[in-house]
Amino acid sequence: MRMPLSLAIVGDMHGQFDATDVEYFNASSYDALLMVGDLATKNPDSVFRLVPLLNQLTKPTYLIPGNHDTTGIRQLIGEITHNDFLVRFGAPSQSTRMEKFARLLTTPTLCGYSIHNLGKLSLVAARPFSMGDSRASSVGDPFALPVNFKPYLEKIYGITTLYESKERLMSLIDRVNPPYIVLAHHGPFGLGEKATDMFGADFLPTETDFGDRDLSAAIDYAHKIKKPPLAVIAGHMHYPTKHGKKNKTWHLKKDGVLYINAARWPRIFKEGAKTVRHHISLTVDSGARIETEARYIS
Ligand SMILES: [Fe+2]
Repeated sequence: MRMPLSLAIVGDMHGQFDATDVEYFNASSYDALLMVGDLATKNPDSVFRLVPLLNQLTKPTYLIPGNHDTTGIRQLIGEITHNDFLVRFGAPSQSTRMEKFARLLTTPTLCGYSIHNLGKLSLVAARPFSMGDSRASSVGDPFALPVNFKPYLEKIYGITTLYESKERLMSLIDRVNPPYIVLAHHGPFGLGEKATDMFGADFLPTETDFGDRDLSAAIDYAHKIKKPPLAVIAGHMHYPTKHGKKNKTWHLKKDGVLYINAARWPRIFKEGAKTVRHHISLTVDSGARIETEARYIS
């Protein structure tokens, strides 16, 4: 791919991606598409509904699975309530669904703890299926916490804790050729605790920075070795927020890194008589300057 490089970021879909999107992106001048995951609704099998559409995309497309993709309701409840029995109980069906999902997908490249080459730009995909952990802000050592959907991540990636995940992400940063960007489902810790902050939560007793510690530690490491990413792209924390219907900061620059939360939801909505579809554009020029813009296509 050439520079400037133009990327489209599609946030959490939860079923909201259709033939109009396919037509638009295929006719667009984007070089590639990045999808932050959460294709499915609460029904785990709904992830398969979008496969025929995604397979019609003609642009290189990179997809990191979200916490709703192929995961069952028992697992999700287990993750939220920290019930290990429920987490383990639903795990075999996640493996079966992921095998089917990977087999059916032809165009999008499934990502997770992986490095991809976008031509003049590299892509590091972070921890798949991440959904945060409400214990992280109160335990002594958040890195000792298990990763979300541990049985699947242990089986496929050999990762069981946030510490191991951080180490894996750091090793990817060691290996990647800069310039590079990071694609995650859930964003990093450290960008604010208010509900209006990028990865702040309003669904806990107090407003809390809900971001992932493994990802923020890996980005800290990247700064330390003087190899920071150009951008960190994620979703998961929807806006407007579920409870307070508050908007969130969806992009900001910190220490020279651009952070993006693409999870504007609903993604497809009515504005008067018009149906509007949300995505985010990201342009990187030959001087590694980076620009982003929210786009509402009708
Ligand atoms: Fe989501």
